[in-house]
Amino acid sequence: MPRTERGVAPVAGPRLSREDTIVDMPLVLSGPWTREARAHAASQEARDAVIRYFRKAVKTRNWTPWDDLPLGEMAARGQFLSEDTITIIEAYLGVEDYVGDYVEEGLRLCEGRRERRTLQLAWGSEECKHAEAWELVLLHSGRRTPAQLAAYRDRVGEHTWTMRDHHPGLATPLGVVCYAMVQERATYFNYEEMRQRLRHEYGLPARSTPFEHARGQQIGAAGAFKTVANDEIAHHGIFLELVRIYLRYLPQDTLEALLTVLGGFSMPALQLIPNGAALAEAMQRTLLHTPLKQVRHVNNPILNTLGLDNRRALERAVQASKLLPAGLGPAHVSLGRAGEFVVSMSPDPPEPARDAAPAPGALAAPAVLVAGHA
Ligand SMILES: [Fe+2]
Ligand SMILES: [Fe+2]
Repeated sequence: MPRTERGVAPVAGPRLSREDTIVDMPLVLSGPWTREARAHAASQEARDAVIRYFRKAVKTRNWTPWDDLPLGEMAARGQFLSEDTITIIEAYLGVEDYVGDYVEEGLRLCEGRRERRTLQLAWGSEECKHAEAWELVLLHSGRRTPAQLAAYRDRVGEHTWTMRDHHPGLATPLGVVCYAMVQERATYFNYEEMRQRLRHEYGLPARSTPFEHARGQQIGAAGAFKTVANDEIAHHGIFLELVRIYLRYLPQDTLEALLTVLGGFSMPALQLIPNGAALAEAMQRTLLHTPLKQVRHVNNPILNTLGLDNRRALERAVQASKLLPAGLGPAHVSLGRAGEFVVSMSPDPPEPARDAAPAPGALAAPAVLVAGHA
């Protein structure tokens, strides 16, 4: 039952449960690895990853801002929060409130990739809760009135965010995935930092108290930030998974997109939110998120997870990827931590032997090193 013209063949295995059907079927992939075949195989794997993501998201992160956040506790402790904390949460509200533009721009760049469209819609349905959560935090903490919040969000709505502005490399399907992977982890980091700040200002210990642990939710606004941060790290996870898939099948394009995105990364819509200047001052005072923290807690962990030591290794990998021979599949190419590629130079086995080809990831001898200029 081949899925491509030259053989994407299922391997015999144990009977699968309904939960595992489609997405966990082990496959042996073989060539010829034309660009079209690479894109097709990547699309198939991405589709399976999105199905797994969607299934888990719906079943395990199913919450609403209006029903599932500890609003009463926010009211009881709102007076303890500093002005900088309120300014920063209000800025988070503004950034999250551009969700419609983020979804629209992402959909425009799906270019017929149905798995990407599905993810974009599912992701948007989760993201749209976050602005509502921050509005509730500000309102129930007693620090903004309904009229102030409505006026703020109206001013947000006066502008349209576009990915062309201030986000190098973003305006391609691969750029969207790379940017989202970085931005989601940065957002997670920001929200976790804010959660710790909230706990400190509430007079709570850094770690959950036995009471919070027993009920499964932190106090007040800290609980809201924990819930939203949980969404953000899940978003980071699915975009990271997609980048890993594209990296295997389209190494040169993916590495170039990642280098461009990392080189010019900034959080979205900071230039558009109504309290941008106040946010910049609050960030300088609190040091909640600095360029050094971005590298240490966002960029480098991402590169390490992708199998690269650091930014220099990524730059080397970009150069080396340009030297990769055409026509090799992911089973014949391996990326080293310093940014070098090891490639198998063996030709594909003859057609009858393809179903017995080595598993993806295995290398056939002889292998050569491909290293670009650092
Ligand atoms: Fe969000
Ligand atoms: Fe997110």
